[in-house]
Amino acid sequence: MRTPVIAGNWKLFKTIGEATSLVSELKPLVAGATGVEIVVAPVFTALSRVADIAAGSNVQVAAQDCFWKEEGAYTGEVAPKLLKDAGCSHVIIGHSERRQFFGETDQTVNNKAKAALDAGLTAIVCVGETLAEREAGVTFAVIGKQVKEGLAGLSVDNLARVIVAYEPVWAIGTGKTASDEQAQEVHASIRALIGELFGTSAAAELRILYGGSVKPDNVKGLMTQADIDGALVGGASLVAESFAAIVNYGA
Ligand code: 13P
Repeated sequence: MRTPVIAGNWKLFKTIGEATSLVSELKPLVAGATGVEIVVAPVFTALSRVADIAAGSNVQVAAQDCFWKEEGAYTGEVAPKLLKDAGCSHVIIGHSERRQFFGETDQTVNNKAKAALDAGLTAIVCVGETLAEREAGVTFAVIGKQVKEGLAGLSVDNLARVIVAYEPVWAIGTGKTASDEQAQEVHASIRALIGELFGTSAAAELRILYGGSVKPDNVKGLMTQADIDGALVGGASLVAESFAAIVNYGA
């Protein structure tokens, strides 16, 4: 009953020309994909051009971050409504790289999630533990705090436009995927917590994506897990064939 979502996070890769080529190559490769939502997240400068090319196809466009104010003297920031204006339907919020290198906290994640939802975007809210946290046995506590504080104050209605992405930091860009079981147990804990916070039907409907070295050869195993509803893909989303193979995992 939960439609899977396969999202490609292009991170800080690709010029406008490269990004438009990639989405143009991708479209025919995924045109036959049904029962799955497809999202790509280029850099800010390529958003509007990629969105123009994706328009009318089954590929949707996400930004990789946003600010929480609509406008004002905030040099360098981009407001959610401007992302909509550029053709985005989604925005990634609180990616671990932003938490690690740009000082994002659960509070800024919460501010951004609320602003994105208010602007009518779907928010892909990322959570994940570091290797040190996993080894210290605090994975569930860390994820629980990120979920609780990142989604604090949202209404059940707004939660319908939230997608949570569980990305263990130690699995990002390392080629080390969490095992299907390791991912599943964290996803199940997130769904249980959402049930406590927002009710069981909101929890049953929430899509929870796994991210961290997802490739064409490991996506199937992950997707067979009960609480894994899709993938947030980094490296393998930069090549049309490999991202399409992940989108078409069920074909
Ligand atoms: P990789 O797929 O390159 O490990 O990146 C995952 C990620 O961070 C997606 O947001």
